[in-house]
Amino acid sequence: MGNLYHQLASEIISQIESGVYNVGDRLPGVRVTSTQRGVSPATVVAAYNELLSGGYIESRPRSGFYVNKSVIKDFELPQITQHKMIPRDVVDQQMILELFHQIQEVAEVNLGGAVPDVKVLPTALVEKSIAKMARLERLNVCSYESYARGNLPLRQQIAKRMALLGCQLNVDDIVITNGCQEALLLSLKAIAAPGDYVAIESPSYYGLMQIIQHLGLKAIEIPTDPVEGISLDALQLAMEHWPIKVCLVVSNFSNPLGASLSDAKKKSLISLCRKFKVNLVEDDIYGDLAFGHQRPSVCKRFDEKVIYCSSFSKTLAPGLRVGWVASRQIAPVVGQLKFMSSMACPTIVQYAVADILKSGKYERHLRSMRIQLAKSMHELITAIERYFPAGTRITQPQGGYVLWVELPSENLVSKSFDTYELTLRLMEEKIAITPGKIFTTTSKYKNCLRLSSGGLWSPQKEKALKRVGELIKQSYKN
Ligand SMILES: Cc1ncc(COP(=O)(O)O)c(C=O)c1O
Repeated sequence: MGNLYHQLASEIISQIESGVYNVGDRLPGVRVTSTQRGVSPATVVAAYNELLSGGYIESRPRSGFYVNKSVIKDFELPQITQHKMIPRDVVDQQMILELFHQIQEVAEVNLGGAVPDVKVLPTALVEKSIAKMARLERLNVCSYESYARGNLPLRQQIAKRMALLGCQLNVDDIVITNGCQEALLLSLKAIAAPGDYVAIESPSYYGLMQIIQHLGLKAIEIPTDPVEGISLDALQLAMEHWPIKVCLVVSNFSNPLGASLSDAKKKSLISLCRKFKVNLVEDDIYGDLAFGHQRPSVCKRFDEKVIYCSSFSKTLAPGLRVGWVASRQIAPVVGQLKFMSSMACPTIVQYAVADILKSGKYERHLRSMRIQLAKSMHELITAIERYFPAGTRITQPQGGYVLWVELPSENLVSKSFDTYELTLRLMEEKIAITPGKIFTTTSKYKNCLRLSSGGLWSPQKEKALKRVGELIKQSYKN
């Protein structure tokens, strides 16, 4: 048995710390754990005894072992910013493009991207499916995908998965797109005209703002709680004040905050949108990446009129560029727009994703990826605690890749501090972070940044984060 039980106990502790198991959760029984982990029942019993003596779990007679105490670090949360909710043009997008170009060219360690490290992606699975489908569908993969809405086997698989989320869809309600970005772009194009107002979270994913700018729309930033998501009180105020056409939310493990809407809040958001006749667009790109066992629900489950957008970029591979829009109401228009702009998505990748979904290997892959993400998020948080100045506030998402950091505004050496300048400085050392100011149309968030483990922590990332902390601390009086 040797050290095996100790290793198993450590793994379970890190799952508790990172939120895979919450206080009160029941651990799987000895036999199940023994089968799952490929160790003997005696090893599991020894590991559970270690957890019992450490106070991590408790034993309840005839019931099992339950998580006893939370060892998740207690950081203060970033503050909800208060700002004037007025329609604004999105500007400065060229700066963002240049910044990302530079990051791609220069950075050796990326601590800011909401992207998976290739090592956590199922590359062999993707490669095999592409080769298999290229062989099986030899003639089809060289043709245009015959329907503007995309590959039928893929739409069937997506419809089946969405049925499990409580969304009843026909295959014709789904349009396959080049990633979630195009899904959002075509959806907004289908329902909004230049000059229309779009309510978004604040801070908000810069890609959404790029779409808003591209379509000549105006963004109204709504204060957003770092844990519970968009403020419905503030949203209602904005809706009373402005003729908002669309509300766009990332419903689960948002980017950059990592916030999620509870079911009750999802329902209230829908009621609010109905009351003010506002179209609700839901971006659920991170929904499959919950750290815990329960995949969160989606707004669309509670109202079939919700326009749902997602992709496989964060779970299978961003390079596949496979996403989709699900909406009975706008699918015909989105399909037309897709056809006009690029005819269809590449055929082979659609067949390959359909094959992966059909085989059941996607679910299997998600199970291990989620544990991996939880572990690396925990390591990132622990490193922030180690290296960042006292008073740093962070979010502690329960899924996805990213968290949001707010640096203290007291004790600064000079009057202003801008994480954009810090980003440029770090680039000289080939380290990338994502500065706060690109997540807003206003001048906020200069003392904020987005960080990510990419799903995999490493000594190189630890060293780079330490350096980020050192440079930040130079801007503070000890
Ligand atoms: C919230 C959100 N929506 C959409 C996208 C774009 O996704 P895709 O790469 O599938 O186009 C991203 C990518 O980071 C994102 O974070």
